[in-house]
Amino acid sequence: MLLTIDQAVEFLRSGEVVVFPTETVYGLGAVASNLLAVENVYKIKNRPRDNPLICHFYDIKQIRKYAKIPELTKFLMKKFCPGPISFLLDITTDSPLLPATCGLPTMVARIPSHPLTLELLRKIDLPLVGPSANTSGKFSGTDVEMIQQDLGNKIAGILDGGKCQIGMESTIIDARDNNTIKIFRQGIIGKPELAKAVQKTKFRHVQILDNSSTQTKMVIPGSKYKHYAPITPIIWVKSFIELEQYKHGQTVIFGGSLSDLEKIKSIHNTIYLGERIAEIAKNFYRCLFDLDQKKVTQGLLFIPILDNSSISLSLMDKINKIVQLEN
Ligand code: TXA
Ligand code: MG
Repeated sequence: MLLTIDQAVEFLRSGEVVVFPTETVYGLGAVASNLLAVENVYKIKNRPRDNPLICHFYDIKQIRKYAKIPELTKFLMKKFCPGPISFLLDITTDSPLLPATCGLPTMVARIPSHPLTLELLRKIDLPLVGPSANTSGKFSGTDVEMIQQDLGNKIAGILDGGKCQIGMESTIIDARDNNTIKIFRQGIIGKPELAKAVQKTKFRHVQILDNSSTQTKMVIPGSKYKHYAPITPIIWVKSFIELEQYKHGQTVIFGGSLSDLEKIKSIHNTIYLGERIAEIAKNFYRCLFDLDQKKVTQGLLFIPILDNSSISLSLMDKINKIVQLEN
């Protein structure tokens, strides 16, 4: 059922679970301080009970009611929020958000930029949990049709915000010590964007670490679980030469130039991601969904334009997780 903002507020206040849009992916929303509602989110997602839930807020002031915001974190929040970035923060021991954090003294907080959800958050004036709206292990929902098929009969309703603009989950960072920014999960904001933000400020000397900094192995609870997988097994093809080794008539998820698309189309069945990297990221989960609808035994994935940009790194992170599962 599609909901108005007022209906969504009403359902959430009465402890129901409502899906809301964000610029990254849709979130499975419930009032973070309501233990029963939070329990229901775990049930609906079939999510392991030791994997804490990200919390959504409408502004920095609201976050401050629930957590400490160190200086560097505050600086980055002011730069990037509302936006596709989430922050690991320390909460108080008697915090009302403990149902959402699995009893941890920390939470991951985010201010999403979708206008409908910002309005929803303002109206309800309570933090909302919002893990990605998908069954645990699967790819995230980025439009209403995907969510209806995956979770439709388990939720009170959906606030329809159209197709998610970014299509990849937010970057998660920990900047609590004011000297380092640890990137736990790569989204479209990465090392270069963070470095640029601190450049020429008093934070210019901070160290930015991500999972490519080999000496650090940074894990968040969620990273130990299976992620992003379609039902159909996927083979990641890295070059045209490799693609040529497959017999004709494969199903190929392709991202790149229209002229290359035409070439591939003349041999295989294609699911087109788009021409540019932002568009490819935006359509990525939807194309995995489309692949599953085709009920083929295997899909090939080919994106020759992947580079070192933060969007590409975020995409490759997801692809690696999908492909690892198959090997
Ligand atoms: O873009 C996003 O972040 C989306 C939208 C809906 O906001 N949400 C999302 O939620 O991706 P989820 O649950 O799929 O991913 C959040 C990650 C999980 O891997 C979880 O383990 C981690 O954040 N996390 C949440 N709370 C944490 C905490 N207190 N400490 C460490 N990791 C935490
Ligand atoms: Mg998720």
